[in-house]
Amino acid sequence: MTDKIFVDGLLAGRVAFVTGGGTGITGGVARALAEAGAKVALVSRKLEHLEPAAEKIRAAGGEAIAVAADVRNMEEVERAIGATLAKFGQLDIVVNGAAGNFLCAAEELSPNGFGTVVDIDLKGTFNVSRAAFSELKKQRGLLLNISATLHYLGTPYQLHVSAAKAGVDALTRNLAVEWGRYGIRVNAIAPGPIEDTEGMARLVPEQVKEKLRRRIPLGRFGRIRDIEQSAVFLCSDAASFINGAVLVVDGGQWLSANRLE
Ligand code: COA
Repeated sequence: MTDKIFVDGLLAGRVAFVTGGGTGITGGVARALAEAGAKVALVSRKLEHLEPAAEKIRAAGGEAIAVAADVRNMEEVERAIGATLAKFGQLDIVVNGAAGNFLCAAEELSPNGFGTVVDIDLKGTFNVSRAAFSELKKQRGLLLNISATLHYLGTPYQLHVSAAKAGVDALTRNLAVEWGRYGIRVNAIAPGPIEDTEGMARLVPEQVKEKLRRRIPLGRFGRIRDIEQSAVFLCSDAASFINGAVLVVDGGQWLSANRLE
């Protein structure tokens, strides 16, 4: 893949609020938005995970701040949005990437385990979107939700995440309809298996990896860069008529998931 796909300054003048860690997919998306010219607020529970990512963006000539907030806590979310406005003066792009995940059989999953993941992934996405609404309305901004493909089929040990991400897709479509009238676009990306992520290392057992890779029609796992490029596209004016879409970025994996080899 060529290193440089987009013109310089594609997102210049925009301010992005990205929830999720400073590493992995959300860290990559934040860096890519900054590379495209956006000023970025990196938001997650632990500042120590965000500061190095924000520093890297600044070292590369971008503008970034790290803000601690748990997306489950509306007051913290509102404070984080306030801090972003205080620093950058506006809000144009919100990336809802904060997520929690672990493997657990449904019959062993506690109600609190189920609820915790729904609280982070689904309610967290709602909380941040709701808290950002008035600023996005002012800017005719956009929301980009990080979803998944787990819920397209029945994915064992992922009931809690599947339920939460199905909700994220519903929220994406509903908000696209309700907030489209304000010029706010709402889309999602559904990444397939992405190598070099903490999720892949922790959630896909080593013995399953090669089998999984063989089932991906494009013959490789995704890279964080693949998600970054899709995010930059959906956040740019090139996607100005795309609203309510869930862009699957998985090399065709879920379509072939149940096929015999
Ligand atoms: N298996 C089964 N249940 C689990 C679990 C696991 N591996 N991890 C957490 N839970 C359950 C807990 O047992 C608890 O339920 P209980 O009160 O009935 O026992 C509930 O989930 C909340 O757990 P807790 O650790 O208090 O929640 P938390 O808010 O501190 O963290 C997560 C929740 C999901 C974020 C945590 O699992 C985590 O830190 N995961 C790693 C980071 C991550 O998920 N990143 C996303 C990359 S894909």
